[in-house]
Amino acid sequence: MMTDSNPTHFLDIDDVSRDELLTILDRASEYKRAQRAGDDHAALEDRTLGMIFQKPSTRTRVSFETGMTQLGGHAVFLGEDDIQLGRGEPLKDTSRTLSRYVDAVMARVFKHENIEVLAEYSSVPVVNGLTDDAHPCQTLADLLTIREHEDGFDGVSAAWVGDGNNVAQSFALGCALTDIDLTVATPDGYDIDDEVLERARALGGDPTISTDPVDAVTDADIIYTDVWISMGQEDERDVRMDDFEGFQVCSDLLEHAPDASVMHCLPAHRGEEITDAVIEGDRSIIFDQAENRLHAQKALLSWLLE
Ligand code: CP
Ligand code: NVA
Repeated sequence: MMTDSNPTHFLDIDDVSRDELLTILDRASEYKRAQRAGDDHAALEDRTLGMIFQKPSTRTRVSFETGMTQLGGHAVFLGEDDIQLGRGEPLKDTSRTLSRYVDAVMARVFKHENIEVLAEYSSVPVVNGLTDDAHPCQTLADLLTIREHEDGFDGVSAAWVGDGNNVAQSFALGCALTDIDLTVATPDGYDIDDEVLERARALGGDPTISTDPVDAVTDADIIYTDVWISMGQEDERDVRMDDFEGFQVCSDLLEHAPDASVMHCLPAHRGEEITDAVIEGDRSIIFDQAENRLHAQKALLSWLLE
């Protein structure tokens, strides 16, 4: 294991520059090709990833673990209740200890400040596997998926419909980095944070903010939604179900965007933010997104550890 007093962390998508982002996406495409062809791409032999989870996961857990195996390395699952963190050991002690064993840490935590603490005390790269505010690994996969389906980023327009949540916030930053023209339609009170919009604008993005899903999706190339009730918000279910009425991605909404592909980070709540027919329909590129988590994160890890 090698440690670095100043490792590169990946806490949100704007921790990488445009050029670095394109390098990672190019490498992801190459790993995707190599994996499908059965070509050797064992870039992380003998390297170990520690994976802290304070929330459940299917895609993030399995794609990181499988990705490390495919790269010749190893991943260790560290559920909060399986390690001393769950009994109150401070994050800073957990981070300093893990840094002595593993080559990188991926963590899914509630408060974004907690991933910042992990990074502050870590001598190895820390990767954000989702916080309440950000989901940059999802954005990496989303951008890879858009680039594949739209043949690049030039002239692409995207509409986010629903909650201005963690996935939306990182996606907005990712659009700014790739010059995707983004419109965000959320109900009043569920907007993307002003601080995130400022960061998007600083990157040259100019997201249009709306409360009208039809306006937002009209003639879009990409329509993207996510759950209305994120992990940790279960107590808000009744209020949110009322507040998000009219924001469902359904066949009627798709009529306003005849060429649009539909994205969802999954897991989806069919009948709430999206219909079963849209998920199963021929506009859906949702399972390509899910697959691309694997390729994008392999590229990210090998880039962070080279
Ligand atoms: N999209 C995503 O992060 O899925 P999981 O919660 O299953 O990891
Ligand atoms: N916004 C969702 C994303 C899950 C991958 C959540 O935080 O629960």
